[in-house]
Amino acid sequence: MNGKRILLIIGGGIAAFKSLDLIRRLKERGASVSVVLTKSGAEFVTPLSVTVLSGDAVHDELFNPLGEADIGHIELSRQADLIVVAPATANMMARMASGIADDLATTVLLATDKPVLIAPAMNVRMWEHAATRRNVKRLAKDGIKMVGPNEGDMACGEFGPGRMAEVPEILDAIEQNISAENSNLVSLDRKGPLQGRHVLVTAGPTREPIDPVRYISNHSSGKQGYAIAAIARDLGAEVTLITGPTNLKRPDGVWVIEVETAREMKRAAVKALPADIAIFTAAVADWRVKGKAGKKIKKAKGKSTPDFELVENPDILKSIANHKSKRPDLVIGFAAETNNVVEYAKAKLKRKGCDWIVANDVSEEGGVMGAETNTVHLLTANTLESWPELSKSDVAERLLRRAAAELSGITQAAE
Ligand code: CTP
Repeated sequence: MNGKRILLIIGGGIAAFKSLDLIRRLKERGASVSVVLTKSGAEFVTPLSVTVLSGDAVHDELFNPLGEADIGHIELSRQADLIVVAPATANMMARMASGIADDLATTVLLATDKPVLIAPAMNVRMWEHAATRRNVKRLAKDGIKMVGPNEGDMACGEFGPGRMAEVPEILDAIEQNISAENSNLVSLDRKGPLQGRHVLVTAGPTREPIDPVRYISNHSSGKQGYAIAAIARDLGAEVTLITGPTNLKRPDGVWVIEVETAREMKRAAVKALPADIAIFTAAVADWRVKGKAGKKIKKAKGKSTPDFELVENPDILKSIANHKSKRPDLVIGFAAETNNVVEYAKAKLKRKGCDWIVANDVSEEGGVMGAETNTVHLLTANTLESWPELSKSDVAERLLRRAAAELSGITQAAE
């Protein structure tokens, strides 16, 4: 970040204290930081602490005669390589989404042609409110990037999504956006056949605990699901990726919800509805150990090996495909088989109630797990296509373009 200029807008929220640390970490990395402190932001952090940490006078009034002579609000945005809003309150996001410019922060945001990254922070109900969901979509379409919010305990005593992303996550997102800006790799403009659609993707394995140090899991790498999430984003969709533990980098510009167990994955998937398309690539562990031991299970002389009672995990795909009120228009499952691939996949399509199944051979000879390529068959209620060996990104693109065409057919038929 050496030499990069970050304009940080601090909104009003308890998370504003994290922004002070963000300033320090940015400076440590060689960035220069200018700060706009909103009126409500100043209720949480003082202009003095911001000035001391950033080494620059705080910008806090729109028509400050001295400030305008020195550096006007338009200039402030022109000088930045990236504008970061942290915390971004529900109110700030609503004003941004509507193009309102009624204070220095929103005026700068409306006047800028630079990339903007926001770190939302708000009460969980405000985050889940239809108005905020609409604003999030609007902002994503306008090319605004987002990091977080995370799920967890909130200052207001509630639990759920709404906590501002942690400083290291915001730093990562800043780095990605600066490099994206330089290399022009990521289009900030959400256009494409999936524009305005919400795509839900599950990916990776789940991890079912046996005791605090052991678990049951599988070899899924998550690559196919991550490729689908990234391509859906590139095709213009708003994407929610619900992922079990993987070693992959989170795709930029995608809502990522990290889970461990099948039950957590199901809760997150149901919560993420409504979606237009839901794609289930996760290798969900079929069973979990009944009653996880609270303490590490010890070996002992003369003691026999432990017996574990297994119980079946919920079928996430099946429950979303049969959801009474919020079934996505297109539900796509993946079928990992080691033999009788097509035959088993056909049965799965019926049993689970999904619209399409992408069947692949995961036998050791197939070598798909962890590989970069995939050879799949696409099954619908009455068709079967066998695709050639393709990269996981190409499988994703073919599948999503088909899905986009299918959806526009469904929408046209409904009109
Ligand atoms: N799936 C799911 N929840 C589960 C099990 C599977 O959502 N508890 C989804 C997978 O993400 C995949 C599809 O269902 O899209 C098929 O998964 P697969 O493991 O092949 O099928 P199973 O239902 O587990 O059947 P079996 O293990 O008997 O082949």
